[in-house]
Amino acid sequence: MIATLQPIETQKTEQTRVNQVDWENLGFGKIFSDHMCIMEFNNGSWHKPRIVPYGPISMSPAISALHYGQALFEGLKAYKNESNEVFIFRPEKNAARLNSSARRLCMPEMPEELFVECVKQLVDLDKEWIPMGEGESLYIRPHMFATDEYVGVKPSESYLFVVFTCPVGKYYTGEIKVKIEKNFTRAAKGGTGHAKAAGNYAASLWPTKLAQEQGYNQILWTDGQSHEYFEESGTMNVIFRSGNTIFTPLVSDSILDGVTRDSVLAIAKDWGYNVEERKVSVKEVLQLLENNELSEAFGAGTAATIAPIRVIHFEGKDYSLRPYDQWEFAPKVSNYLDGLKRGLEKDIHGWNNRVS
Ligand code: COI
Repeated sequence: MIATLQPIETQKTEQTRVNQVDWENLGFGKIFSDHMCIMEFNNGSWHKPRIVPYGPISMSPAISALHYGQALFEGLKAYKNESNEVFIFRPEKNAARLNSSARRLCMPEMPEELFVECVKQLVDLDKEWIPMGEGESLYIRPHMFATDEYVGVKPSESYLFVVFTCPVGKYYTGEIKVKIEKNFTRAAKGGTGHAKAAGNYAASLWPTKLAQEQGYNQILWTDGQSHEYFEESGTMNVIFRSGNTIFTPLVSDSILDGVTRDSVLAIAKDWGYNVEERKVSVKEVLQLLENNELSEAFGAGTAATIAPIRVIHFEGKDYSLRPYDQWEFAPKVSNYLDGLKRGLEKDIHGWNNRVS
């Protein structure tokens, strides 16, 4: 039995906080909108999706998410344009990926339309919170975690699904410096790297902290077996360009199937680039850098959208790319995606989901 939800029961906040926001200093992920959507899973089905004022949730310290990490999340964004039209970018992709992550972590799936409806109704209610400045949007954070009060190790039988939203600015300001990592591993073959599992991010923190202490913003992760092939960059997919070819690691069980990655590659094909999804070796990229033939390298993710890489570090040496303002593809695709998400470009792929 599956929860149906039209309309989702809504309890509105008595006093909006939207007037207290410092819109000039949004940062990323520290301001929370008025409402959240919550829904429980127990006895084999999802129950009672509802929108309530954003706030703390009371829970037992014995819930299994806290001990064994049965927890996953998604990230997507809503945009508003001058005509007050609100759009959410490709929420169906996030719904499908949430279910794929859930299968890997032995958590319950949910009907994709239920996910999309929760997100849309929440965004519609809090649309006053959507900022409209350059690089700004309403970041939507759906997540699910195990709530069984039980200390034995087994899949939980109860879960909570929560969606909250944050008005956000840019995740990175400017170009980033990354370090190729050959010692630590983000995700192992056969592990949970393709899932948006909370634990994947925990595992990345220590190596990232070490890289940041050395002056780099993020890590360029390599595969856990040989450390010879690129996987991801920080919390993003990584994409390279050399001449007319855009190339990126093929998604696998250790690489997340990113929505921004997918969108960028589709647009690159539309624009006539030669797009290659394949193994990308460290050796190949260093060779291109040595020969001054690596035209562009950037992270692609929901939070950052496009994060241009200016410096790649490997074994004591910094390799620099040309400044971003001399690049051809990433600035263009970044602007195009921004316009598309605000409903200002023709949506030829049908990616934009209009709210109300
Ligand atoms: C993303 O950009 O896709 C993310 O998941 C970002 C998040 C880790 C802040």
